[in-house]
Amino acid sequence: MTEAAAVIGPLDLAAHVDEALAVQSLAFGLSDDEIEVRRQIVLRHLGSPGARALGATNSEGRLIGFVYGMPNDRGHWWSTVVEPYLRSLDSDHWLDDSFVITELHVHPRHQNRGIGRALITAITDSAEEPRSILSAIDTDSPARGLYHSLGYHDLARQVIFPSAPRPYAVMGAPLPLRRS
Ligand SMILES: CC(C)(COP(=O)(O)OP(=O)(O)OC[C@H]1O[C@@H](n2cnc3c(N)ncnc32)[C@H](O)[C@@H]1OP(=O)(O)O)[C@@H](O)C(=O)NCCC(=O)NCCS
Repeated sequence: MTEAAAVIGPLDLAAHVDEALAVQSLAFGLSDDEIEVRRQIVLRHLGSPGARALGATNSEGRLIGFVYGMPNDRGHWWSTVVEPYLRSLDSDHWLDDSFVITELHVHPRHQNRGIGRALITAITDSAEEPRSILSAIDTDSPARGLYHSLGYHDLARQVIFPSAPRPYAVMGAPLPLRRS
């Protein structure tokens, strides 16, 4: 169930990048150095064609969750890392005509109330692409549970991103996402 007090709507992520990174930091765990790096990456991503973000705000107008993504571009760093893994499994066509979910985070105090599901469903519903891809730490997490329930399946496992301490799974789903 969506939290009654949470409102999902367009987010000017460039203007609210610090609030978003504060949510991400609590939800995902980021060091101060990582926050600085992420800020530069987010601002660069927002310059990509079709990049957009949605936020969830509580009754006081505070940001408690966000998602952002964009039409996938094989030239982007993320794509160049995952492409050899997908190609070796004959799945690299998923990198074309695909909306990539770059980040999805919900403040820990507000998790498991339907906000993450509402954010990712809403942003992909407005995508023109017929499918969506993303990566998530390759473990049995709430994020992976959510993505599976929305119709994402594993395209590649144990994908290593330089500088990431743990391997990731790359997942893809047809759009619109499955309703539960
Ligand atoms: C992943 C995340 C965004 C999900 O947001 P959320 O608002 O908590 O998710 P929802 O309430 O919409 O949950 C939807 C599904 O997620 C799964 N889920 C959520 N919390 C869970 C938990 N604590 N344990 C197990 N599954 C859980 C369930 O499958 C749930 O399905 P249900 O609604 O049928 O029960 C949130 O848990 C989060 O921010 N996690 C930390 C950051 C992160 O991992 N981000 C993703 C990076 S790839």
